[in-house]
Amino acid sequence: MAFDIEETLARIPERSLKADAIKATGLENTGDFISMGVADMSFKPPCVVLDVLTNEIKQGFFGYYGGKNNYKAALKNWMKQMHSWEPKSEWIHTAHGLVAAIGTALRAYTSKGDGIILFSPVYHSFKKIIQANERNPVECPMNLTEGKYYLDLGRLEGMLTGKEKMIIFCSPHNPGGRIWSLEIQRELAYFCKKHNLLLIIDEIHNDLVFPKNKHVTFPLAAEGLFDNFILMTSTTKTFNIAGGLMGNVIIPNTKLGIQFSKANMATGESPNRFGMIMGERAMEEGQPWLKNLMEYIDENRNIFDHKINSIPLVRSIRLEATYLAWVDFSKLEEDESSIMKKLVSDAKIIANPGSSFGLGGDKFVRFNLATSKELVQEASERIRSIFEN
Ligand SMILES: Cc1ncc(COP(=O)(O)O)c(C=O)c1O
Repeated sequence: MAFDIEETLARIPERSLKADAIKATGLENTGDFISMGVADMSFKPPCVVLDVLTNEIKQGFFGYYGGKNNYKAALKNWMKQMHSWEPKSEWIHTAHGLVAAIGTALRAYTSKGDGIILFSPVYHSFKKIIQANERNPVECPMNLTEGKYYLDLGRLEGMLTGKEKMIIFCSPHNPGGRIWSLEIQRELAYFCKKHNLLLIIDEIHNDLVFPKNKHVTFPLAAEGLFDNFILMTSTTKTFNIAGGLMGNVIIPNTKLGIQFSKANMATGESPNRFGMIMGERAMEEGQPWLKNLMEYIDENRNIFDHKINSIPLVRSIRLEATYLAWVDFSKLEEDESSIMKKLVSDAKIIANPGSSFGLGGDKFVRFNLATSKELVQEASERIRSIFEN
């Protein structure tokens, strides 16, 4: 199914986080701003998703959701086709987005004041949801070696105080787009087993993998070794339907599953009908769109990296997955606020400052590449012209 993905570009609507981020600059004349911050794409979802929602609107039924078994069947099939691992139906719980699901898991399995381990720099909402639940984020910085991130489990072992109960692991990693190998994930499984830590694996970016790369879903790596884990996935990043606010929480361990169910019920969880309908259809028929999407973003990645890496002392980390470029400005003799000010005021680009991702993120900047080739070209040229001297 070939199609021109640029034809599917959606305008940034007023009621969106992207529009809020542009307004938050406080600047006027924002018409030529390039929005590369918020992690959703500028593309419309696949036609099959637009069609299913259009049909729902035509029918005019906006009541409660039902039909979870169909959704679960679609998810099981998707996981089998895409990730060579099929969960059982009874392992699948639904949630109002993965950040909300992490909050539920924190309340289900840990107590106030417990230490929750993060490999930083990492997606900023992890720390926020840990703190909002009055748990204590414990950041173990990753090592960046020759442009690749590595977990430092030796360092983490030395940091343990006995109060740590859980690790939240991002796979593929945001930011930096690192795909974790089976071996690395097995080492992590051993580590958790040795130290009796519960592992939450956030695989929201699991499908956004570049051609020639392969994501390994954690249950495959942990098979026969470790089951003290909770796997979280979603269709929302893959198909750009984050406004549908839903997510999957997959728990093979029966005892952990019962605990999660109870905590989930305590939130009054009841799936968002439109999100679930979009997600189900996307998993059934969205695969060709996804393939085209990743080929398109691969070209954006090449355009961006080529231009950014031509700036002396500035390096774009080579992404293996995700559309979220991660650029190292740390060799420049400028602090992060000055770098961000130049990006917003001079380059007119909205992006995310690296320090918001925790330890090790300072003087990095995250740029969303899921937009048109022309805009990626224009943005990288603006960045080059500002920072090349
Ligand atoms: C790693 C990761 N987890 C979760 C989310 C957000 O998930 P949700 O919208 O389902 O809460 C994001 C969004 O960027 C993310 O990068």
